[in-house]
Amino acid sequence: MTNLNHCQTQDTQDPLRPLRELFTLPEGVIYLDGNSLGALPKATAARVAQAVQAEWGEGLIRSWNTAGWIDLPQRVGDQIAALIGAQPGEVVATDSTSVNLYKVLHAAILIAASAVNTRAGGLKDLKKPRFVLSERSNFPTDLYIAQSLCQQHGLTLKLVEPHEISAALTDEVAVLMLTHVNYRTGAMHNMAALTAQAHAVGTLAVWDLAHSAGAVRVDLTTSQADFAVGCGYKYLNGGPGAPAFVWVHPRHANAFEQPLSGWLGHAAPFAFTPDYQPAPGIARYLCGTPPILSLTALQCGLDVFSAAQALAPNQDVIAALRAKSLALTDLFIALVERRCAGHGLELVTPREHALRGSQVSFALETGGYAVMQALIHRGVIGDFRRGDGDTHRDILRFGFTPLYVGFEDAWHAVEYLKQVLESREWQRPEFNQQQAVT
Ligand SMILES: Cc1ncc(COP(=O)(O)O)c(C=O)c1O
Repeated sequence: MTNLNHCQTQDTQDPLRPLRELFTLPEGVIYLDGNSLGALPKATAARVAQAVQAEWGEGLIRSWNTAGWIDLPQRVGDQIAALIGAQPGEVVATDSTSVNLYKVLHAAILIAASAVNTRAGGLKDLKKPRFVLSERSNFPTDLYIAQSLCQQHGLTLKLVEPHEISAALTDEVAVLMLTHVNYRTGAMHNMAALTAQAHAVGTLAVWDLAHSAGAVRVDLTTSQADFAVGCGYKYLNGGPGAPAFVWVHPRHANAFEQPLSGWLGHAAPFAFTPDYQPAPGIARYLCGTPPILSLTALQCGLDVFSAAQALAPNQDVIAALRAKSLALTDLFIALVERRCAGHGLELVTPREHALRGSQVSFALETGGYAVMQALIHRGVIGDFRRGDGDTHRDILRFGFTPLYVGFEDAWHAVEYLKQVLESREWQRPEFNQQQAVT
């Protein structure tokens, strides 16, 4: 039976263990919230200070050319492309996930509409797509953005449970919009299979990779997805509010709309012409001036993946990270179910490896928020997501970033959780006061 000794041995034998040293992790903290905000890479502070002092302070405006600021969104995009099965030149780091989703969903809706018009060729009885299809427990910002676009385009947002998606995919769906790994449950969709099903009925597939990029294998090219967006501040460790990213399949390369037609997405921004001409390819998804300091910090987060590759030059680094993440989450699930039995925790994350991402979620009927607050007080940082009181229950989330979380961390986290539940210390008033950010 697994004990603390086993966990310590697993850490000693872990080839990825040295990567932990690349992060600043506070003493006495076990950080299981990298699925929400990644930890701080040690290189970030000095690199951002250098960008401030040398590039901005000394270089001033010249740094747009001399420090390569102007193409930083593309260079950071290329680093991200390597983690999501895309090619160099296909990704840019820009704006937030919400804003990028607005751009790609708008483009996908227009492509779907024009495909129907072309196919119709005067036929009256061809069914017009009426829906954007998504999952009821998709991240709210995705649903809010989709609601707004549906209103603008006279479509309806249709929300279903995960097991109902296949049946709901008909030729009346313009766009299937899903988050690859669900933010609440950690359940992972089969991107290739759902994209193929969507294409079979003439529907486009838009994927949100917020909880996938840097955590699980993503293969956008092989999956034939149409568009993808994702976060820079979760598993990519780019810092709070880091720029997000956006990808489009090359088959749409020069035929997709940019609804936010800003000057830096123009084909020739410095020609200063009064009319908008979109840049070729993904560069048109840039809008305003790139946030250089934030992009610099994001680059430091991405450099950690290059360091991981350097540790094992002949290995598939994503496969190694994924194997560690699955070992960590398997261990955590087994320990919680054994050590915390009888306290009402119910696993909501699928056990099957192919069906889950890098987080573990447990539902708890009452007191979930307070339990998490008490756990955080003991130094184990996870988070809490409220249910809708209907089909979705309150959950405790624990994210396992294989770059810096170890097996001993998983052991101690479960021991603290057990103590919090057994002592009922979560009932103390200070743990029951709701804070602004949960
Ligand atoms: C699936 C998903 N999409 C989008 C977001 C947030 O996007 P933004 O960076 O626009 O706040 C989150 C945040 O947690 C998320 O989980």
